[in-house]
Parts: sequence; structure tokens; C-alpha cells
Amino acid sequence: MIHMKDVSKIYENGAVALDHVNIDIDKGEFVFIVGASGAGKSTFIKLLLREALPTEGSLTVNGRNVVAMERQEVPYLRRGLGVIFQDYRLLPEKTVFENIAFAMQVIEAPRRMMQRSVNSVLDIVGLREKYKCFPSQLSGGEQQRVAIARAIVNRPAIVIADEPTGNLDPETSWDIMDIFTRINSAGTTIVMATHDKTIVDTMQKRVIAIEDGRIVRDEQRGGYGYED
Ligand SMILES: Nc1ncnc2c1ncn2[C@@H]1O[C@H](COP(=O)(O)OP(=O)(O)O)[C@@H](O)[C@H]1O
Ligand SMILES: [Mg+2]
Repeated sequence: MIHMKDVSKIYENGAVALDHVNIDIDKGEFVFIVGASGAGKSTFIKLLLREALPTEGSLTVNGRNVVAMERQEVPYLRRGLGVIFQDYRLLPEKTVFENIAFAMQVIEAPRRMMQRSVNSVLDIVGLREKYKCFPSQLSGGEQQRVAIARAIVNRPAIVIADEPTGNLDPETSWDIMDIFTRINSAGTTIVMATHDKTIVDTMQKRVIAIEDGRIVRDEQRGGYGYED
């Protein structure tokens, strides 16, 4: 699914965000990317989405060569990826239903199929009754559940989340993790950057730890490993 070989990312100001990183992630895995603030987690995620290019090294995502990719191919890469951010990034002028349907319109789905798919992902995140609400009428946890529904509506092979529980209280964070667990059980690969020690220690999934742009640990069924 994801093959990263000898990848480095040096920003224009000279910041070394990733330093010769090698990572392979297979279909169906659930992987936490952990590390302190500034370690390189978001840069790793930006490379997967081709929001940034590596300075050196090779990277394939879903069988596509992200480094050599033409600009026109980028939307096809992104259609295979569901992305979730700490700050939800919903469209404030659109309802819950429209926010999710909008993600489908981009791929020109027929209207009836669109309605069925939106209802089905709203059921998965437990928000069917809120479909007419605007984001401002929802709690943070509910907004993040809408963002997850939007991320999975096109049935992506990989869900990529950058600190998705970063703005949520512990109980709400667990609602989010329960949804990720269910999505992963259905076969979707999950890559989640986080510095939530309790979540990582409790979930016992694969843990890749980054420090100053370097992979310092890669363990199956790991824990967070250290205090922040
Ligand atoms: N757009 C950018 N331009 C310059 N430096 C950046 C940029 N984005 C991130 N960095 C630097 O790269 C390093 C890794 O940042 P980041 O990937 O955001 O880490 P994390 O998500 O783990 O907090 C930090 O030193 C940060 O300051
Ligand atoms: Mg970050």
C-alpha cells in the first residue's frame, strides 16, 4: 500500500523534517505515527497525499509513484485516500449531508447512489439524525465524525488522519477510535499521526516513532514508549 524508501524532506528554509525514512505499510494495517511536536509526523502525511514532494528517495502509495507523478494524476491518487485533520475542515455553509455529498460530487456519482452512500456513512459514524445540521450546530466530536464520514464515503483503500483527536476530550476521542477500529476491521488501512499516549498504549497497534525526522522505533502491537 505504502512504500517509502530512503525518503528525506528538507524544507526551503533548511529544516530537515524527514531524514532517510524507510517504511512499508501493508493493506489492512492500523499504524500509529508517534512523536513529539516537530518530529516530522505531518510532513510524513503530506508526502503520502502529495501535498509536498520528498527532497530525495522514492514513495509509492496505492501502487502510484508519488514522486514521478504528473500533476493531472494527483486527483486520482487522492480519491483513493480518505483524509482527516485535527481541525475537521468542514465547509461551514453546507449541511452535514452536503459536506459528505460534496466529496462524492467530485467523482460525479449518480444522485441515488450518492444518497445511499451518504446515509450509509452517516450510520457508520452514528449521525443519521443530524444530516440537516450545519457544522456550527455540532460538537467537536460530532464534527470530527462528519469528517470521518466524508473521508470514507468514496471507499478509500487508506484512511490517513493527522492528530484527529487533538482537539477532543478523552471520552470523545474514544468514540473516534471506535469508529476507526470498525473501519479497519472492514479492511481499510489506517495511518494515524498522534501524540496521544493513552490511545496508543491502549490500542496495541503497530507504532512507528519519529524523532527529529528519523524513525527510531517500529513495533507491532507497541505502546507510545515515552512521556512527551
Ligand atoms: N512548510 C514548512 N516550511 C519549513 N519548515 C517546516 C514546514 N513544515 C514543517 N516544517 C518543519 O519541519 C519539522 C517537522 O514538522 P512537522 O512535520 O509539522 O512535525 P509534527 O507534525 O510531528 O509536529 C519541524 O521542524 C517544522 O518546523
Ligand atoms: Mg503535525
